[in-house]
Amino acid sequence: MTAIPEHRDGLQRPRRVFGDCPWHLVSGDPYPPISRSAGSHAGFTALVGSKHGCVLNCAHLPLTPTNVTDMKIPLSPELGLTTRDRQVAPSFGHAMHKFFEFDPSYVNLNHGAYGSLPMPVRVACEKLSARIEANPDRFVYKEGIHHWNEARTRVAKLIGAETDECVLVNNTSHGIATVLRNFEWNEGDIIIGTTTTHAGVSRGIRYLGDTPPHPQVSTFDLEFPTSHAKILENWREHVRRVTSEGGDLKQTRKVVAVIDAIVSNPGACLPWKEMVGICKDAGVWSVVDAAHSIGQEVDINLSEAKPDFWISDCHKWLFAKRGCAVLYVPKRNHHIIKSPIPTPYTYRSPQDEHYNGPQKFAKLFEWTGTIDYVPLLSINAALDFRQWLGGEHKINEYTQSRNRRREASSESPRNQGNGP
Ligand SMILES: Cc1ncc(COP(=O)(O)O)c(C=O)c1O
Repeated sequence: MTAIPEHRDGLQRPRRVFGDCPWHLVSGDPYPPISRSAGSHAGFTALVGSKHGCVLNCAHLPLTPTNVTDMKIPLSPELGLTTRDRQVAPSFGHAMHKFFEFDPSYVNLNHGAYGSLPMPVRVACEKLSARIEANPDRFVYKEGIHHWNEARTRVAKLIGAETDECVLVNNTSHGIATVLRNFEWNEGDIIIGTTTTHAGVSRGIRYLGDTPPHPQVSTFDLEFPTSHAKILENWREHVRRVTSEGGDLKQTRKVVAVIDAIVSNPGACLPWKEMVGICKDAGVWSVVDAAHSIGQEVDINLSEAKPDFWISDCHKWLFAKRGCAVLYVPKRNHHIIKSPIPTPYTYRSPQDEHYNGPQKFAKLFEWTGTIDYVPLLSINAALDFRQWLGGEHKINEYTQSRNRRREASSESPRNQGNGP
């Protein structure tokens, strides 16, 4: 076992991880030559074709989605934790501190803004980075797609969606911009935001309003304190008013509403499922800014709630590495999303000589230019870590019980020795 150096903060970090590579390469040769059958450059899946997701031209490297991932890192000896720490998932609160790496003088009260990475997830990310850097071609042409598909499959299951309805993007802002810029805007179209829409998102809406053909921007007033019943009453009225105005344009124009699932400021859950339902009844497209949902809301069932688009950061409450988000687009709306930002080499144009229909939604997002894929793929490690902690319901029960206690005692978070 390689000695693990101790860092200034007293935490041990792995020095050499590649020898302990997490993939179970079945072949005797861990670095088989890459055979490029699909052109001179290709992204994750140019070499991936069959319905089983097998890699073509590498029969000697039988990677499958089940054997590429070994991110059961909470139990890894490399974490510098005691044997007991590694075997027994901690109770929450203070017992969780050792799984994070905060400066002892820092009290993290801003997890919601950009998340904070648990140490086991960081270590898994470093392992994956080391693996990638040891042979970038192997990752890009062969292995990456399996991690990508596994992350999409697992996250889809968590939110009650189909894998092919979920893709990974860098952050919620990116996901929402992708959706809004893919609509073909016409004069008279309307985008509805709210007074609590996150600044980056509302500025994006404003930008679209400033750009020809200048869709109108309508703002729904949300004032707190309020109740879900009041919000729904006002929302119904706002949507009714917006959709009933506009004379002849009413028949052809589109209305798109951006709805927060959880408002960031002030932190508040909105009755987003009912708001989506009101949109549906009125023929209004719903784009749900669920930046804070995944990892906080349990039993999200998008197939049932049926938003038209739904985007959630995974680097906030799911504990993935920053930046990482899931963009959900149900199959019925795939035709809206013609191109990610930026447009990938997999895009199919109707002007192409042998055009035979648009590219598949998920395939469009596999490679949108060179980025570090580790944050997007860290979903797998984050979900392993959360599973080890006891799973989504157990985590949620703990945070809810803390909220109830806090409400009951009116204690400030600081006085409570706030746990993650
Ligand atoms: C409600 C809401 N939407 C969108 C965002 C933007 O998230 P990101 O910076 O990951 O794109 C945030 C950020 O905190 C947010 O709170």
